Amino acid sequence: MIIIKSRDEIQIMREAGKVTAGILAALKDIVRPGLSTWEIDRYVEETILANGMTPTFKGYNGYPASACVSVNEEIIHGIPSKSKILREGDLVSVDVGCTWKGYVSDAARTYPVGAVSAEAERLVRVTEACFFEGLKHCREGVRLSDVSHAIQAKAESEGFSVVRDFVGHGVGREMHEEPQIPNFGKPGRGPRLVQGMTLAIEPMISAGGYETVVLQDNWTAVTADGSLSAHYENSVAITDGEPELLTLL
Ligand code: MF3
Ligand code: CO
Repeated sequence: MIIIKSRDEIQIMREAGKVTAGILAALKDIVRPGLSTWEIDRYVEETILANGMTPTFKGYNGYPASACVSVNEEIIHGIPSKSKILREGDLVSVDVGCTWKGYVSDAARTYPVGAVSAEAERLVRVTEACFFEGLKHCREGVRLSDVSHAIQAKAESEGFSVVRDFVGHGVGREMHEEPQIPNFGKPGRGPRLVQGMTLAIEPMISAGGYETVVLQDNWTAVTADGSLSAHYENSVAITDGEPELLTLL
């Protein structure tokens, strides 16, 4: 069942989303060579708490941190570590969830660390563009898989591949609600979008193949072929007109 949110519920999610968006915007200037992924997590957690909110991820299925920080071939769910130091040329993806008055906001960005290769830069740009291609279909009456299909078409037209083992999702009182939102698929399938749905749309795009492996820590998902990957996510509210981005300032 897809849970429809009231105006009041979406207002709370907007407030949660504003803090998440602010953190992700600030990280653009914080990420630099020499920083540990643990320091990124410290910044994320301290900022969430300073806003009176709760880090959604911490303790979720035993997850030990407030942010997921995934470097290079790590796709998602990288566990922050004091010994993992960012180096010039890396790509780092940071995923943040904030809970406020019982509602969740969920978003992610990928940042270049210093100067990166032209291919890495293109991967980051295209991953963000994939999200916005999907967003064009986030309108009342549209079938959900039209969103998925648009994301896949953009990624593949640029020679990249779409990670299939992880998907976007409904978001609200729970971080993961129905529906699942794959970043690939045939158009014209799935439920029709309705005003009041809130969706976390999150393309995970690889510069190589789409197969994944989960590391020994039982969290970190990497590309099986070691290729670079990027992640871009926003929580989105379906309205009677333009979709509202809850996690973008
Ligand atoms: N944003 C991620 C997701 O959509 C974060 C989950 S990390 C977890 O699934 F640790 F909280 F599981
Ligand atoms: Co998510």
